[in-house]
Amino acid sequence: MGREILRMENISKSFPGVKALDDVSLKAYEGEVMALLGENGAGKSTLMKILSGVYTKDSGRILLNGEEINVLNPRDAAEKGIAIIHQKLNLIPNLTVYENIFLGREKVNSYKVLKKDCMIDESKKLLERLRVDIDPTLRVNEISIAKQQMVEIARALSLNASVIVMDEPTDTLTDKEVDSLFDVIRELKTENKAIVYISHRLKEVFEVCDRATVLRDGKLIDERMISDLDEDEIIKLMVGRTLDEQFPYLMTQVSENVLEVINLTNKYVKNISFSLKKGEVLGISGLVGAGRSELGKTIFGLYPIDEGEIFLEGKKVEFKSPKEAIENGIMYVSEDRKSEGLVLSMDVKSNITLSSLDKFKRAIGLDKKKEERVTQEYREKIKIKTPSLTQKVKNLSGGNQQKVAIAKSLLTEPKVLILDEPTRGIDVGAKREIYDLLNAIKKEGHCVIMISSEMPEILGMSDRIIVMHEGVIKGELTREEATSEKIMNYIIKGEEN
Ligand SMILES: Nc1ncnc2c1ncn2[C@@H]1O[C@H](COP(=O)(O)OP(=O)(O)OP(=O)(O)O)[C@@H](O)[C@H]1O
Ligand SMILES: [Mg+2]
Repeated sequence: MGREILRMENISKSFPGVKALDDVSLKAYEGEVMALLGENGAGKSTLMKILSGVYTKDSGRILLNGEEINVLNPRDAAEKGIAIIHQKLNLIPNLTVYENIFLGREKVNSYKVLKKDCMIDESKKLLERLRVDIDPTLRVNEISIAKQQMVEIARALSLNASVIVMDEPTDTLTDKEVDSLFDVIRELKTENKAIVYISHRLKEVFEVCDRATVLRDGKLIDERMISDLDEDEIIKLMVGRTLDEQFPYLMTQVSENVLEVINLTNKYVKNISFSLKKGEVLGISGLVGAGRSELGKTIFGLYPIDEGEIFLEGKKVEFKSPKEAIENGIMYVSEDRKSEGLVLSMDVKSNITLSSLDKFKRAIGLDKKKEERVTQEYREKIKIKTPSLTQKVKNLSGGNQQKVAIAKSLLTEPKVLILDEPTRGIDVGAKREIYDLLNAIKKEGHCVIMISSEMPEILGMSDRIIVMHEGVIKGELTREEATSEKIMNYIIKGEEN
């Protein structure tokens, strides 16, 4: 075991209505990756925001290399050698990649003139280290979310910190990018850095972490070596109980077609044909960039159609906007809920009802009581953890924001619900709740298109699976036929073309 670099002792933090952290302690050692685990809302991000000077603690101590420190703000934390990659991207969209990397600590020469070339050069090196091909002079809003995440990681690396916190860094990355990140993490270990790694993907935890600290409801539950744990045990520590059946697949009698897509073609997808039956979950598998989200968005009226047709319950439809799609019973929940799905500055209730205001309209104004009752129902149904329905969505934990986005879409009572990466950033217990929800939707005779990069989830919950690659469908499999090998085969065949 390496030397102890960081120690957080007896940290407590309250927000109005929630005790986010209650007497939590944590240690991080040189050359080790410490997994910080816990359900959505357990307090992981809050603890790390205290460490990095975003929040101030109510009580407790932070020791760095044995000495108590006071972290005043994020810049102060960086100067003390603490870098954080935030769960929510923190980049400024209309600044360039290199400007973001050096934001707040721009390099200047002795005449206080910006050393632009030098910053561009160093940014290049950092990005090369991460094995990503990004031009540092591009604006951040010109590159994909996955690349933005890599820029965020590059910025943290550029600080040359001794403690590096990664809060769900792989959420938006492709498998290849995850591998590069893990290579970098292994390098950082040999450089004796201490890494705190937050993820809901247990596979990753077993792959790169050495030790685990588990929180539940703001309290420290246990600290253990990963080598002494298996998946079931971790889940039990996190959730407080064992989870039966991870994928509670429900067989329904699928009957008539609800949606039929014929030869759909536009800028993003080519010749897409498939059908969706009542009570069916259609999984769409493929690599990031395969055009899956774009297909979902095209059906939802976000992108124009060049050729092909869409039939909803036998009637030809062509939506000019999402509003029209929603009115006709098609709803799409974005994978990027932070920027597309939710209004973060509005409260939980207003977000949930945002797409269904017609349901609450009265002769004058809105039926507030009904709004309250219905949103409360959804809050309970999918266990949204929030002190109240009037809490601003930006104050919810990442996973609970996702649940609000799902509640919002369910309230529109769609005939076809398109879920894009529905369990991304969601803890193991809540995943199970989302799967139960899929079953409830099936039972009501509605249907779901589930776009997912998680192979077990695709195999575990779909009735039928289509595999996409570069905008086209490479294969279709029934639940019975599907295996991860077959799916990978379709993807690889696509790669060879
Ligand atoms: N700024 C804030 N104002 C009010 N409440 C907050 C604020 N930040 C966090 N909370 C609350 O503190 C609790 C812990 O949230 P935190 O974001 O630390 O959870 P988390 O473990 O990171 O969860 P996730 O896995 O979903 O990201 C939650 O109940 C959350 O709603
Ligand atoms: Mg979090």
